[in-house]
Amino acid sequence: MLFLKFTLLTLLIAAPGLLVSGESVITCDGNLQHLTCDTGLILVKSSVYGRTDRHTCNIDRPTSQVANTNCALKISTIAERCNGLRECELKTDLLGNPDPCYGTYKYHNTTYDCINGRLVVICEHGYSTLDCGDDSIQIINANYGRADSKTCSNGLPSGLTLNTNCYEKRTLSIVASLCNGRKRCTVEASYTIFTDPCFGIVKYLTVSYMCTPPPKEIVSCEDTTAVLTCGARRIKIISANYGRTDSTTCSSRQPANSIKHTNCYLPRTLNIVAARCEGKSRCEVPATNAVFSDPCYGTYKYLKVVYSCV
Ligand SMILES: *[C@@H]1O[C@H](CO)[C@@H](O)[C@H](O)[C@H]1NC(C)=O
Repeated sequence: MLFLKFTLLTLLIAAPGLLVSGESVITCDGNLQHLTCDTGLILVKSSVYGRTDRHTCNIDRPTSQVANTNCALKISTIAERCNGLRECELKTDLLGNPDPCYGTYKYHNTTYDCINGRLVVICEHGYSTLDCGDDSIQIINANYGRADSKTCSNGLPSGLTLNTNCYEKRTLSIVASLCNGRKRCTVEASYTIFTDPCFGIVKYLTVSYMCTPPPKEIVSCEDTTAVLTCGARRIKIISANYGRTDSTTCSSRQPANSIKHTNCYLPRTLNIVAARCEGKSRCEVPATNAVFSDPCYGTYKYLKVVYSCV
């Protein structure tokens, strides 16, 4: 289930709403990494800590510190902290990554896209409703804590906003399980929901999300034709099977022995349906052995397809 949720999110993030593609930012060790999207929200594609050439970040450095160009540690901390924000400034020495090549002067190399999405910031004790109308919420990222000293600081003594490296790691999974797939969802910036990642600091909750049409499911009994439609959008297949996985679907007026086999899968179904349908706004797929071959002779089968419109 968790795996399915994850793949679904990746699929949906991979497709729509790309505004700017592949900006790269290099930051020499110890400096501030600054990512920014003029329009849209940051989505990190790759982030590497180490050294892969001699020229980058070599000013005033002895040869011994720039000679090793075979040092590349893939890191996830920058994506975890910056995804879903418009702007993200990080002290790279506070990221807590291990040293991949001791003695070499390293740099961070982060490549990111700017994608369409919405960002809400909720000060401590406040709450907000995410609303996708008839579409469904897909959370991009969320953090309860504090990443800068300005946000939600009005009238506060500066001591209460000093810690700007405050992240509650479980925020994303909590908000995702509350909101993903729903049309509306109310979230509250409270330590009772997320626990307190930095006691004595006034915190806030940032949540970024997008609205995507909910996946559609279509079932066509053997020897009928499935019709997939997406209006002005395009079909993206999420899952598909030609066979039988329960005894109730397409069972009316069937003899018992043709619906009793409920472990009938044809793994190639997804590829066959995707080849016929993906990228189109409408397509027809006959649920027949002629199209798919027969994964369980003697069983009355059906084609089940889950797809989204992107
Ligand atoms: C930074 O990463 C990008 C994407 O992986 C790569 O194309 C580029 O060569 C890297 N730059 C440096 C200086 O390592």
